[in-house]
Amino acid sequence: MINYKQEIAKILDDKLVDLSLEEIENMLEIPADSKMGDFAFPCFKLARTLRKAPPLIAKDIVAQLEGNALFEKVEAVNAYVNMFISKEMLLKNTVESTFEMGADFGKSQIGEGKTVVIDYSSPNIAKPFHIGHIRSTVIGNALYKIYDALGYDVVRINHLGDYGTQFGKMICAYRKWGNKEDVEREPIKTLLSYYTKFHEEAEKDPSLDDEARDIFAALENGAKEEVALWQWFRDESLKEFNRVYEMLDISFDSYNGESFYSDKMPAVIQELRDKALLVPSQGTEIVELEQFGLTDAPIVKANGSSLYITRDIAAAIYRKNTYDFYKDIYVVASQQNLHFQQLKKIIELMGYDWADKIEHVPFGLVSLEEGTMSTRHGRVVFLEDVLNHAVDKTREIIKDKGVVTENIDETAAMVGIGAVVFNELSNNRIKDYVFSYDKVLNFDGETGPYVQYTHARALSVLRKAGVEDIDLSKIDYSYLKGEAATNLAMDIYKLPEVIVEAASKNEPSVVTRHVVDLAQSFNKFYHDEHILVENEDEKLAKLALVKAGQIAIKNGLNILGVKAPEKM
Ligand code: ARG
Repeated sequence: MINYKQEIAKILDDKLVDLSLEEIENMLEIPADSKMGDFAFPCFKLARTLRKAPPLIAKDIVAQLEGNALFEKVEAVNAYVNMFISKEMLLKNTVESTFEMGADFGKSQIGEGKTVVIDYSSPNIAKPFHIGHIRSTVIGNALYKIYDALGYDVVRINHLGDYGTQFGKMICAYRKWGNKEDVEREPIKTLLSYYTKFHEEAEKDPSLDDEARDIFAALENGAKEEVALWQWFRDESLKEFNRVYEMLDISFDSYNGESFYSDKMPAVIQELRDKALLVPSQGTEIVELEQFGLTDAPIVKANGSSLYITRDIAAAIYRKNTYDFYKDIYVVASQQNLHFQQLKKIIELMGYDWADKIEHVPFGLVSLEEGTMSTRHGRVVFLEDVLNHAVDKTREIIKDKGVVTENIDETAAMVGIGAVVFNELSNNRIKDYVFSYDKVLNFDGETGPYVQYTHARALSVLRKAGVEDIDLSKIDYSYLKGEAATNLAMDIYKLPEVIVEAASKNEPSVVTRHVVDLAQSFNKFYHDEHILVENEDEKLAKLALVKAGQIAIKNGLNILGVKAPEKM
């Protein structure tokens, strides 16, 4: 595919001896108003070396660029050279690239040879997999697909919260008020009720907290009975998590959670001690971070137990040694900003030069329409229920429409789950948002179902046309003159760049928004231009663009972890 910036830089490089290719490329601008061209080159910087007024330089450059096939028009406006690219060339190049690359259109190899570790989802064992977890799970999965599309090796890690004092509480509660049959019948909901009860009782009787702490210490020391209970809770929980991952079609390369690091902690603590970073503080041991504008980080508890951050230090070192990462990304709520700042600082203080490769990718809160949810008080909405509900509602809508007659369940799953995922990725991740079924399942507007429907519409036009294979050598692109066609081609053309941008910001919503633009451009083309016209050549040219659009939309959706049904 033509890389316009590179091509333009190459042309200008011959004329501008003092600037490197890269410098020219970085100076090229994309004007906000398309009346000023597709690309613009500002000449201010050249005034000194060329000893000429910038508007005159612009005029000179224009004179040299005129007649180049890449452009339709080049003009000097004040100190700028405004370049209008040849629309026919853009259309031809875009259609040919999408056809040639197919499912790979949008991908590139800029990350080749580099490994990115992404820690996402990472729910806590024996706690519900609730609507709040959707954010890390879905954003993390989209980031995985984005980095993967750029050729990076990605290691997907589910850092399960399968360790810590909460297991002391859970075991304590189970022993006091629990029974096996209830847990087996309905594991997580039952365990959650014990957990809730524990907190209610502990408010009245704080000695319960001490008891739970001792149980956790026993667990950490490998006490048989405690370990067995813990393992049982973990297994049951994973069953439930995996049901949700299956619905979302999400998988991981590693489920090494917090417990995995329990035997790696003594060495880490020793290392911190050797590096004189551990300071005793009221029976605990901490790393002092106040001089860095952070809060001190407790590393070892009074009873010798480790903490969440201790395990994260061990995990970061383990990941560096195991994967030699280029980036170590954590997709975790912004409530944990301090935790990750502390982690990064401690790794830096330990003398590791890869501390700056640690990247916390935070996101805002989800709340329900009636208020925020809290595991502690037992008011929670299970993600599985949300997904099932979305699928059920979608099934009704699809049945009403009557277009899909076979595999209705499969389509309902793709659309219903796709709707939830797409909605999740629609806004800037850092924003808080309120979850509402009505919004998620709204099939009009800037939603997943709207984009999916556009994709299905494109396929339906192609089916109706009855053209099996489009022979690109026969296409006359001059039939695609209208603005709608150019805009659609431009949006298709931009997909690969958009994916690069999304990775650089760790922001999947960049892709989501572009996919919506793409669908809107497609629909504009579809409505403005009659596609199945009499003239065979014109029809074929239009169908080629329809197919290019369909490929781009499908690939864009897939990058987000959303499926594109063929009929809707
Ligand atoms: N289990 C944690 C939670 O639910 C998230 C863990 C994130 N990953 C990490 N390496 N700290 O809040």
